[in-house]
Amino acid sequence: MRKRLVAGNWKMYKTPTEARMWFRDLVAKLPQTQAEPALLVPFTHLPYAAEILEGHGVYWGAQDVSAHNEGAYTGEVSAKMLADLACKYTIVGHSERRSYHAESDALVAQKARRLLEHGIVPILCVGEPLEVREAGHHVEYTLRQLEGSLEGVHPPSASSLVIAYEPVWAIGTGKTATPEDAEAMHRAIRGWLAGRYSSDFADQLRILYGGSVKPDNATALFSQPNIDGGLVGGASLKLEDYIKLLLA
Ligand code: PGA
Repeated sequence: MRKRLVAGNWKMYKTPTEARMWFRDLVAKLPQTQAEPALLVPFTHLPYAAEILEGHGVYWGAQDVSAHNEGAYTGEVSAKMLADLACKYTIVGHSERRSYHAESDALVAQKARRLLEHGIVPILCVGEPLEVREAGHHVEYTLRQLEGSLEGVHPPSASSLVIAYEPVWAIGTGKTATPEDAEAMHRAIRGWLAGRYSSDFADQLRILYGGSVKPDNATALFSQPNIDGGLVGGASLKLEDYIKLLLA
């Protein structure tokens, strides 16, 4: 019912030239898969993504967006610009933005609203830091973050929003949540969404797991009933690994 999404978060890696070659290689080697491939790349790589990936069943998008529509905001990129490059998805509220750029839940919600206004699906990230997990407060913490980050966010359908649960302690560390721990959090998130929107909406919405997803742990994670794919950093940079994830 929910199509698995394998979303690569390239972070600040690869040059546009490298990306162009990688996209061409992916299109040439793309396997038959039930999963939906998507790549969230630096802004500079998006025109190449639009040119090369179009029509191949691979989707693309950015890793952040401005909270403003347009104007004198030096250095920012608007949702309208991303829509013009046919972005299907864009990440908001990644923990690296929240911690290095002090992004609040309210700002993340504003960004999500901008994307929806332009028909782009926000991949909204939430997840607890290590000390919160150790204190056993990870569910309340994550649901509170979700609530704040969805303030005033009214997706027209369940397919116009994706949630990514990414425990901060698992990102880029090689430590993954166990499939059971991840599943428990995904179930809690889905339950919360049912109350916030409706149970139909919650049943149809995709919730991704992120944090050190690799070819050797992806199958166990993705086979959990409430895990609908992954938001993958490191392992999405190597073509062979990314292809393995599409087949996991
Ligand atoms: P990782 O990153 O797969 O390298 O842990 C995931 C993410 O930050 O989205």
